[in-house]
Amino acid sequence: MAQTQPGTGTSRRAFLRDVGITGGAGAMLATMGALGMAPTAQAAQREKPFRAPSAGDFTLHGRAAAKVVVVGGGIAGLASAYELGKAGYDCTVLEARDRAGGRNFTVRGGDSTVDLYGNRQTARFAEGQYMNAGPGRIPQWMVTLDYCRELGVPLEVFTNTNADAYIFNESAGMSEPMRYRTAKADVYGYVSELLAKATDKGALDKELTTADQDRLTEFLKDFGELGDKMTYEGGDRRGYRTVPAATGTPGVPLGDVPSASEVFASGVGRYFSFEFGFDQAMLMFQPVGGMDRIPQALTRAIGAHKVRTGAAVTRITDKGHGVTVTYTQGGRTRSIDADFCIGALPPNILAKVPHNLGPGVQRALEAITPQSAGKIGLEYRSRWWELDHRIYGGITETDMDVSHIWHPSHGFHGERGLLVGYYNYDKDADTYAALTPKEREKRAVAAGVKIYGEKYRSELASSFSHHWRQTPYLEAAWHDTPGGPDDPRYGPLNEPTGRVYFAGDWLSYTDAWQHGAFTSARRAISKLHARVLAA
Ligand code: FAD
Ligand code: ALA
Repeated sequence: MAQTQPGTGTSRRAFLRDVGITGGAGAMLATMGALGMAPTAQAAQREKPFRAPSAGDFTLHGRAAAKVVVVGGGIAGLASAYELGKAGYDCTVLEARDRAGGRNFTVRGGDSTVDLYGNRQTARFAEGQYMNAGPGRIPQWMVTLDYCRELGVPLEVFTNTNADAYIFNESAGMSEPMRYRTAKADVYGYVSELLAKATDKGALDKELTTADQDRLTEFLKDFGELGDKMTYEGGDRRGYRTVPAATGTPGVPLGDVPSASEVFASGVGRYFSFEFGFDQAMLMFQPVGGMDRIPQALTRAIGAHKVRTGAAVTRITDKGHGVTVTYTQGGRTRSIDADFCIGALPPNILAKVPHNLGPGVQRALEAITPQSAGKIGLEYRSRWWELDHRIYGGITETDMDVSHIWHPSHGFHGERGLLVGYYNYDKDADTYAALTPKEREKRAVAAGVKIYGEKYRSELASSFSHHWRQTPYLEAAWHDTPGGPDDPRYGPLNEPTGRVYFAGDWLSYTDAWQHGAFTSARRAISKLHARVLAA
């Protein structure tokens, strides 16, 4: 996936390095170009702004809109049908699951799932409570927000970082959590003190003029809240034991400033670069009421009758003059003929669907590997994190296998609320997936109790867990595309194969983001439309 995986501490440099390792110098240069660091062919041929197909295009060209079958009703499939629909294309979306949206899945009370291990769950969340099991946050620069505007999906702020949320590194021997603000004050304080000392000792004489060293020192004094002797001794940025209030109550600052050695040994600083990420910086947004407001709005705009759910595609056949897609629905085998097909399935699933699109397509699909992630929603009878901990939204970071604990960014001061008790990846996600839902809850709660205390257990009303590698028809949270999506081996997927086009977040530089699904759909349908107009 592009950019950082939350919590893994992948820095911009590490990201470049990873791409360099997996994609060779070409990919490294291309990526640097994308980040504005090197000139590249891609930078020179900046993508043309997207223009949606319109009915007027056909009037001008004297052509007729074609019939398109879209395989997969995730964001990429729905966006393809939505955009083509603007020009009057006759689109049918075939979606295997009983609901459209794909990985965009919001769990509410009454929703049921069965995973590939046979675990059956029905969410018992109260009215108004939900968990975004897949996407949960949207950065301001992503095209996803444009679709929310166009489709009338109301938004609210998603709090991605919160100075009052916690950090808890059990393996470093922390016996209680530390607030983000405290950790930042200490880490920035000591880093500033050390850099100021190094500067003072002449360590930067070759790098900086005396005037620049003075400017740096001035910056460090402020950045690290250093005292007159340029040492870090704590301060009110760390927070208070008793907060300042009326006259006579100046507040009691948190004492016990740890030593520099203790601060670095605690590892609390490893989470700070997360919010520097281009993808993860505040402000971020979420649709009011749940992320699935997006596929719901797309489905309405396409026309619900054109989105066939429970329709699992079993074969894609390019016939030269058209495409035939075979699928099963309600126990019956059916087929649909169309002028074109858009394959908007995850690559790992598409690789298992019989087709006649050639070995190049198959090899490319098989080179892309599925990745794991899971979440558990813990619904509580009270919002004790607001009442007892004064945490309103944001994420608590841990080095335990629950990884990230999300506090809700909505419903403040309501009666109930729902925490995401784990959002984990890779091995941790697979470990939880192998447990029964009840065992997952037990393990996640035991971890949370270490941070928040007994209410994490005693106030729990219900839980629901979801693991993407074990989800039928998806079998992945996101995908690893060695070399990046422009690697030549993916040529047969990036260009139409006969009359079949491909779309999905995995064919973008923002895999694991809806933006990738939307932009790849735009790319596919633009090519399809240009071909229809040129015919
Ligand atoms: P999919 O959603 O995978 O759609 C493929 C569709 O094909 C599915 O509906 C599937 O059921 C269907 N299908 C499969 N087989 C068949 C078949 N045989 N016949 C018919 N249909 C079939 N994005 C964000 O923007 N913000 C986030 O915060 C974010 N967080 C995420 C967190 C998690 C845990 C996960 C899993 C994803 C997250 N994403 C996030 C990424 C986002 O969910 C995806 O980028 C996007 O939903 C992918 O859409 P898609 O259409 O490309 O693929
Ligand atoms: N884009 C996904 C997230 O932000 C992975 O959690």
